[in-house]
Amino acid sequence: RGVFHYRDGRLSAGPVALAEIAAAVGTPAFVYSADAIVARYRAMTGALAAEGLDATVCYAVKANPHLAVVSTLAREGAGADVVSEGELLRAQAAGIPGQRTVFAGVGKTEAEMAAGLEAGILQFNVESEVELRTLDRVARDKGLRAPVSLRINPDVDARTHAKITTGTSENKFGIDHAQAGAIARQAADLPGIDLTGLAVHIGSQLVDLAPYALAFEKLAQLFAELRTAGLPLQRLDLGGGIGISYRDEQPPEVADYARVAARAVRDLGVPVIFEPGRWMVGDAGVLLTRVVFVKQGVKKRFVIVDAAMNDLIRPTLYDAWHDILPLARPAPEAPSQPVDIVGPICESGDLFATDRALPPVRPGDLLAICSAGAYGATMASTYNSRLPAPEILVAGADWAVIKARPDHATLLAQESLPAWLAPEAD
Ligand code: LLP
Repeated sequence: RGVFHYRDGRLSAGPVALAEIAAAVGTPAFVYSADAIVARYRAMTGALAAEGLDATVCYAVKANPHLAVVSTLAREGAGADVVSEGELLRAQAAGIPGQRTVFAGVGKTEAEMAAGLEAGILQFNVESEVELRTLDRVARDKGLRAPVSLRINPDVDARTHAKITTGTSENKFGIDHAQAGAIARQAADLPGIDLTGLAVHIGSQLVDLAPYALAFEKLAQLFAELRTAGLPLQRLDLGGGIGISYRDEQPPEVADYARVAARAVRDLGVPVIFEPGRWMVGDAGVLLTRVVFVKQGVKKRFVIVDAAMNDLIRPTLYDAWHDILPLARPAPEAPSQPVDIVGPICESGDLFATDRALPPVRPGDLLAICSAGAYGATMASTYNSRLPAPEILVAGADWAVIKARPDHATLLAQESLPAWLAPEAD
């Protein structure tokens, strides 16, 4: 996949062999390439600039919120798209100024609204009238005005997985296109609101440009209409969602994505925000795992590994495909055979691949589960009392542990017993 490649027969990130990292930190472990993340950021900002857009790339922190990942992007000048107070604090800790931060989400609490106002964020992407009125009150209580862009639901089917499509009228997201005008006028009149623009996000892992073109054009048209009607709209937020190739999908080239966006909005002559998450970090990460056992079942051969659904839930949750590569390059003549690659958790859904062609492996062998940089560690849990996998960042020939594997005692110490269960003091 470009980022990770075999070098002297060993799967590597640049000059760093992943087996070296596995030997040092153990498995399972997430490894991210900072160089790959930076390359993506520059490719996107370059493509948008080449189209003549005044664009800000606000990285969707949810995809990989690790402080070192966000800091890597902050250094490049990225903004942030946050959806909670926790993400806002992370973006700030990484050095992303409030003025390059947008706050999205259908259920912002008043405390989160207040935090966003105090941080002086660029805009709240507001998804309903009730949210707008609440934000107005919270802002007035503070003697402030909340910058607001209305998230419009353009009713466009992104044709992606049902759990990650967001732009049709059946989802909970955004303001119905038909009501947008009325709500925009309210926003313009509310004393605690400063109406700044319109926003759209139609879903995630889009591999087709057509739904983007449709959604962007609808949004641009609405923008032009409302501006003509006298509403003080100043900028557009075109959301995120650009997909990556997990298997054989052919996601759009970033230059084509930029062209589609520019074609729809350039004539409006306003600044444009983008909120990519997965595209920025997905391919830049792998989950390293070790084969525990190979078990020949009645009908299937199982490769049981030491990573599990608690580490990477995408296959279980979305039937997602992730390429799985041996860390030691297999001999070209090694016969692949279909296996199920599964974790040790006591659920049938704990699997990474079914009937996957894999060269022969033995207990102790190392594998990389690819494209795990986005929605990987951040969606992890400690189910089955498994320890969170450590995270490692590689940059050039250097690598560093950016999150260590905790020990069981530390996790146990986070829990406490109520008085009636506490051991008797003597
Ligand atoms: N902006 C908004 C308003 C969003 O809701 C999202 C993602 C993004 C930007 C970033 O989307 P991206 O560029 O990463 O596609 N856990 C799922 C993905 C959930 C996406 C949620 N929203 C997965 O593992 O596929």
